[in-house]
Amino acid sequence: MTSATSSGAETGELSSSTVQVTFDDGIAWVVLNRPDKRNAMNPTMNREMNVILDALEIDDRCKVLILTGAGEAFTAGMDLKEFFRETAGFDPIKRHRMMAQATNWQWRKLRYFAKPTIAMVNGWTFGGGFVPLIACDVAIAAEDAIFGVSEINWGIIPAGNVTKAIEAVLNERKALLYIMTGDPFDGKKAAEIGLVTESVPQSELRATVVALAQKLMKKNPITLWNAKVAFKHIGEMDWELSEEYLTAKAIANARMDPERGSERGLKQFLDDKSYKPGLGEYRREE
Ligand code: COA
Repeated sequence: MTSATSSGAETGELSSSTVQVTFDDGIAWVVLNRPDKRNAMNPTMNREMNVILDALEIDDRCKVLILTGAGEAFTAGMDLKEFFRETAGFDPIKRHRMMAQATNWQWRKLRYFAKPTIAMVNGWTFGGGFVPLIACDVAIAAEDAIFGVSEINWGIIPAGNVTKAIEAVLNERKALLYIMTGDPFDGKKAAEIGLVTESVPQSELRATVVALAQKLMKKNPITLWNAKVAFKHIGEMDWELSEEYLTAKAIANARMDPERGSERGLKQFLDDKSYKPGLGEYRREE
C-alpha cells in the first residue's frame, strides 16, 4: 500500500525489513535501514535489495535512484556476524548462493542499472560497502563521512569484488595504501583521491544530491542509460573492440530512443538555431 508523507513523498510497498524506499518527484530514495547495526549488509538486506532494484528498474516513479543509509552510516560493510561468522559452517553451495545474493545487487544490478544512480554517502563506509558505493554512477559524500578498506584490520583480503571495485576508480598508489593499511579517511580525502565525485558539508549533502538528480532527470533517459553502460563496459576492452562496440551501441541507442533525441537536437541547433548543445540539452517536450 502506498501512502503520502508530509513532504509529499510516497512511501510504502517496496520498503522491506532492512531497506526503506520512498518516491519523491522522480527520485527513488533507497535507504539502507539498519541504523543500530550501522547498516551492515546482512543476508536479509542482500536478498531484499535484489527484489527492490528489480522492481525500481521498471517503476516509472523512479527516474533517478539515490542510495543512502539511515542514521550515522552509509554502510559499515558486510555484516561480520550474520554474513561471516554465522555462515562459516554452511555447505559451499549454500554459501555460494548467499554470496551471489550479495554481489548480484551490490555491483551486477547496481552498476548496470537502467537509470542514473547516485550514492549519497552520509557517514561510515567500510569494506564491502565500497562495492555499492563504486557501482553507483556518481557518489557525493559528506566531508565528515569516514571510509575504510578495513578488511586487513580483521585478517581477510578485500574480496566480494571490493578489490575490483577499488581498482576501477583508484590509482595503484592510493588503492594499495588503503588496502594494505586499512587506515580510515574522510570524505574530503575520498573526493581528492577520486573514490567519490565530490564532498560537501553534511548540511549541504541532500540538497546537492537532489539538484544533481534533477539535472539528470532532464536528459534523454535511454541515451543516459546507454552512455553509462557503455562507459562501464569499455574499461574491459582494447581500443579496437571498444570502437566496434561503441559504434554498435550508438546505432542501438538511436534505434531504441523513442524520442529520437539526436534528430531533435540537430534540428534545434542547425535549423531552428534555438539552442546550443555545448551549453545545455535540447528541448525534449516538442
Ligand atoms: N557487521 C556487523 N555488525 C556491525 C558492523 C558490521 N560490519 N558494523 C557495526 N556493527 C554493529 C556492532 O556490532 C554494534 O552492534 P551491537 O549494538 O549489537 O553491539 C552496532 O553495529 C553498533 O556498532 P558500534 O561499533 O558500537 O558503533 P560505532 O558508531 O562506535 O562504530 C564503526 C561504528 C562502523 C566504526 C564500527 O562499528 C566498525 O568498525 N564496524 C566494522 C566496520 C568494518 O570493518 N566493516 C567491514 C565489513 S566487510
